Amino acid sequence: MKVICVDSERAMSAEAARLIAAHIRVKPNAVLGLATGSTPIGTYEELIRMHREEGLDFSEVRSVNLDEYVGLEPDHPQSYHYFMKHHLLDHIDIKPDHAHVPDGTARDLDAVCLEYDALIRELGGTDIQLLGIGRNGHIGFNEPGDAFVPETHVAELSDNTIEANQRFFRSADEVPRRAVTMGMGSIMQARHILLIACGESKADAVYGLVAGPVTPKVPASALQLHPHVTVIVDMAAARDLGLPGGLFGEA
Ligand code: F6R
Repeated sequence: MKVICVDSERAMSAEAARLIAAHIRVKPNAVLGLATGSTPIGTYEELIRMHREEGLDFSEVRSVNLDEYVGLEPDHPQSYHYFMKHHLLDHIDIKPDHAHVPDGTARDLDAVCLEYDALIRELGGTDIQLLGIGRNGHIGFNEPGDAFVPETHVAELSDNTIEANQRFFRSADEVPRRAVTMGMGSIMQARHILLIACGESKADAVYGLVAGPVTPKVPASALQLHPHVTVIVDMAAARDLGLPGGLFGEA
């Protein structure tokens, strides 16, 4: 696991975008695994800038998003379909049918989950998977528990996640209780994993990710078993890692 500690959220976003863009330049039809939430917004802004100013070409790129709330229509402002269109997809030249977000409104969610893993396989696997991290160490909506769930599945959101995500809704009552999420295996099949985190509220989770025991109680800790992970953190999120700012560390 390579840990890159930078001095600002802006630097984190620029570094993450640079890495994703490099994948696209090397492989124009790269499969990108994408995330939502506050953390990747700056990365998406930088990718849009690279598209506009540097001609970064998404026309052959395919994307698969990590997750979607159950029950939110794609045009609901808090759905991850809407988020992706608003923050990235509408501003680049990716073909609409090349961009995939799980369907959280289908009647048969089990079928949605099976088809999503099949889709990832059909695309040839993910070249680079972008991840944020929850304060409780979740990735996607793989919440802390007693076992890792390998496949895409319907997850119950933990109280911690509902509380963290209520800032996007009018109240905690409006936060959906369930989500379709890639499982740990669906995430770990990616050839390269890029996790970004900033702010002190993520420091405990980042410590568990990098230096804690591998345990389903901190789902992100499983990334220690992946051969090609890059973690980009600001100094606040790296609080307990003992890495001097600006240096690249191997953990
Ligand atoms: C989003 C996702 C989540 C977020 C995590 C951090 O698709 O899968 O795991 O990455 O909850 O969210 P933010 O970035 O809002 O702190």
